[in-house]
Amino acid sequence: MQVDADFRPILGPQLVRLDPMRIKQLQDPLVYSSIDSLAKLSAHCLNLRAPLTTCEKLINSDNTLYLAWKFDEEQNVSRLLGFAKVGRKQLFLYDSQMQTYEGEILCLLDFYVHFSAQRQGVGKQLIDYLLAQEHAEPYQLALDNPSVTLLGFMSQKFGMSKPVWQNTNFVVFDELFQSFAAENGEKAPDGWNRPQTPRRIGAVSTDTRWLRNAVSGHQSKGNAMAAPVDADMTPQGALSNRAHQAKARKAHILSSKPLW
Ligand SMILES: CC(C)(COP(=O)(O)OP(=O)(O)OC[C@H]1O[C@@H](n2cnc3c(N)ncnc32)[C@H](O)[C@@H]1OP(=O)(O)O)[C@@H](O)C(=O)NCCC(=O)NCCS
Repeated sequence: MQVDADFRPILGPQLVRLDPMRIKQLQDPLVYSSIDSLAKLSAHCLNLRAPLTTCEKLINSDNTLYLAWKFDEEQNVSRLLGFAKVGRKQLFLYDSQMQTYEGEILCLLDFYVHFSAQRQGVGKQLIDYLLAQEHAEPYQLALDNPSVTLLGFMSQKFGMSKPVWQNTNFVVFDELFQSFAAENGEKAPDGWNRPQTPRRIGAVSTDTRWLRNAVSGHQSKGNAMAAPVDADMTPQGALSNRAHQAKARKAHILSSKPLW
């Protein structure tokens, strides 16, 4: 993203951390519109209707933008190379054993490198810088609905090769769960707590055994258990499913004991 202006006095170094306060202080419409344009390209790349990131939204949020840019002295232009937006969110997570966890976690919410600068190390520089600034390790990052490219990037550049899809479409890495299991044994780390034990219904308890067979995340994306399920999505399939469910419900009602 090329802009006919010198952003050096405004942005400073080539990797820059822009928290909401800093963005507000920039007070430069050209910087704002350039960042917004880059964010539009990110949305376009992911086939989203509206950008996930705008400066206006950032100012009114708790999220932080990490920006990579450079000044081209020969052509006297500034080039915005890419950005990563992060924020801390309270997430409810399943590990690959379907144990549940809840805690505040650093989330990568939007991540884009301009197509003219991809595969030149800009993305890695951005994430390294972001992790250093946030005092976090790669496995402590949750990815919001990541693209296949991003999963490949995390695997290749950070060795994060075991994504665990959550049904919220966040992805965390198995190492996250391993890290605090190793550090704390069964005890949850600070800021994390295991939610209530499964509720008991009748004489038997709900068992995580059932959850192990559940499919998390989007069916087309696969999941940690490598158990893809192809639902019959045709109208005929949906109708026959519904007919089957109705039959099962009726049989259940007829077979259950009256309440009084
Ligand atoms: C993901 C992304 C931010 C990485 O930025 P980058 O500057 O290209 O990353 P780096 O140069 O540091 O690392 C490159 C690595 O990323 C992965 N990668 C990047 N582009 C890729 C592509 N088109 N196909 C496959 N892998 C790709 C590869 O692992 C690559 O390593 P390699 O070049 O040694 O094979 C960038 O490719 C991008 O903006 N992609 C489109 C938007 C996107 O998918 N964003 C994720 C939001 S969900």
